[in-house]
Amino acid sequence: MADATHRHGKRVTRITEVAHPLDPLTEAEISLGRSIIDAAGLITDTVRFPAVLPVEPDKKATMAWKPGKPFDRSILYVLLDTATGISHEVVVSVTDQKIVSQTKVKSDEHPYGQPPYLFEEYERVEALVKTNPEWLAAVARRGITNVDDIFCAPLAPGYFGVEDEIGRRMIRSLTFLRNNPTDSPWAHPVEGLLVTIDLTKGEVVRVQDEGDVPTPTGSGNYDVGTVGPARESLRPIEITQPDGPSFSVNGSLVEWENWKFRVSFNSREGLVLNQVTFTDKGEERSVLYRASVPEMVVPYGDKSINRFWISYFDAGEYLLGKNSNPLALGCDCLGVIHYFDGIAADDHGHPMVVGQAVCMHEEDFGVLWKHTDLDGTADSRRSRRFVISYFATVGNYDYGFFWYLYLDGTIQVEAKATGIVFNGAGVPGSHDPHASEIAPGLFAPVHQHIFSARLDVAIDGLDNSVEEVEVMGVPMGPENPHGNAFTYSETTLEKECSRLANSAAFRTWHVASGHRKNYTGAPTRYQLIPQGYPVLMAQPESSVAKRAAFATQHLWVSKYEPNELWPAGMYPNQHAGGAGLPEYIAGGDSIHNQDIVLWHQFGPTHIPRTEDWPVMPVDYSGFLFKPHGFFDINPALDLPDGNNAACACCGSGKCGTDECTCNHAH
Ligand code: NI
Repeated sequence: MADATHRHGKRVTRITEVAHPLDPLTEAEISLGRSIIDAAGLITDTVRFPAVLPVEPDKKATMAWKPGKPFDRSILYVLLDTATGISHEVVVSVTDQKIVSQTKVKSDEHPYGQPPYLFEEYERVEALVKTNPEWLAAVARRGITNVDDIFCAPLAPGYFGVEDEIGRRMIRSLTFLRNNPTDSPWAHPVEGLLVTIDLTKGEVVRVQDEGDVPTPTGSGNYDVGTVGPARESLRPIEITQPDGPSFSVNGSLVEWENWKFRVSFNSREGLVLNQVTFTDKGEERSVLYRASVPEMVVPYGDKSINRFWISYFDAGEYLLGKNSNPLALGCDCLGVIHYFDGIAADDHGHPMVVGQAVCMHEEDFGVLWKHTDLDGTADSRRSRRFVISYFATVGNYDYGFFWYLYLDGTIQVEAKATGIVFNGAGVPGSHDPHASEIAPGLFAPVHQHIFSARLDVAIDGLDNSVEEVEVMGVPMGPENPHGNAFTYSETTLEKECSRLANSAAFRTWHVASGHRKNYTGAPTRYQLIPQGYPVLMAQPESSVAKRAAFATQHLWVSKYEPNELWPAGMYPNQHAGGAGLPEYIAGGDSIHNQDIVLWHQFGPTHIPRTEDWPVMPVDYSGFLFKPHGFFDINPALDLPDGNNAACACCGSGKCGTDECTCNHAH
């Protein structure tokens, strides 16, 4: 089973022995698979592993699986020969201890696509840039003398059909100054200087150097030494659970109140929730088979040579899980915490442990339901939510991915974007239609963060349909004599498709069971409520619109296919476009009472603010997945009286009386 230990008084799970087909990969499995590849002679001095991912087990077999029965565990290793730039996908069954398949990645053929970057490639970038005479001349021309402290940001180049870039393993580098080794480089962008590198040849392909905008000198640091002493006015808030938390963890299985699910984690997606169920009147009912945020894109709306090409795919190009934060070094959750270690793989295909990558805890969430009767009788129940989260840091930005399960059956997904806004330099006080000046001379381009959530839904089973629901007025006339009437439409989406949100019509999508009805006779349903923020702003003819086609729509619905996991395809890095969701729905399969997957795009469009500098307060975005006729009745009627149960100082039963000294608002 799992190794659940107390580290410094904290509860931590690291899965060391696989007990369920959906358990995350273990260190031993990753090592075993690698040794099988090594024994086959496939690992030379120049071979690296840009990705190591679990092969998803067969869905029907997994659903039918019973404890004690055998199951297969396979791992996909992507091997890159850094000497040739040629990559292979090698699938190893660690159960059968053999290589199952070996396939060349067609990085050199249209539509191209490169495996994600290796950590060691970032170091190579710095070494190549800093020894390049053209670049040295460009920084010298700007009067920059301290080359040692310069930061060379390694950035995915996009795809623009440039002859000496297509089909090659490329990367670009922007230059940032540091006044000392710990100075924040993001405050000192060197404008108009772009280096493009061929990683396989290990050479600088071109240095573009234009303009003479001075590099801003203001500090971007936010340490105590820079901002001064921390305020002392805040009194402590302590979250205590004197009787322990209300959840239990057994291997990858987590149970909290009526919720049950399995935690998984991989290098690319980070956190994955499997087999999410809600126990309703003693019956365990399925809601989601698998849920994750497998891709995101950060396209910039600026046309300068430094940034027109920027559109980071943080999962597919950089790997969110591999870049996740070891919360062992600083956890941001409050309460009684249970962690899961994240197991990824390093550049050499060896297991890499991200200590306490996933954080779980309970959180009070105010009032869940309340009513004061005509006779003055007051009832109120407190809401509590279960939080499962992780953070990834990719360059300047930090992303938190938070899944909230509520007592009333609601699921909420929230992305927290924080970290440091990406800047260029400009003339202080000037106007730039594609950027805002967030500090003197620092211009932050307009940009978007569009996340893609993959919801492999299973509302009371796999036979599900999607109804698009929206509200509408009724024209004055015999159907609406007083003009007040309005109604709603429900349109079943029959075939694989993509859809936009429409906030003005409160457009939502209901996922309905094909066979189960609630006690009013309606299909049992969950409702996806989008925030409806803008989708991709780039023009349809642009490169990024083809490469990040997933981000052009709020919703895609596809028929489940085992290998369809990636919204922008398996290798979005330098891919010419069209992969992922456009391919997944191209067949136009029926999605009526089928095993279907919903892909929902959400996230902020940023016009950066001065308040976002030098480190950005969290920008929240997300969506709700809410029962809508799934239960026959409010599933949280049986909660205890919140006043007494949740307020420690009112445990005396004097809550609401004059003798209660509790400061909580009741
Ligand atoms: Ni932003």
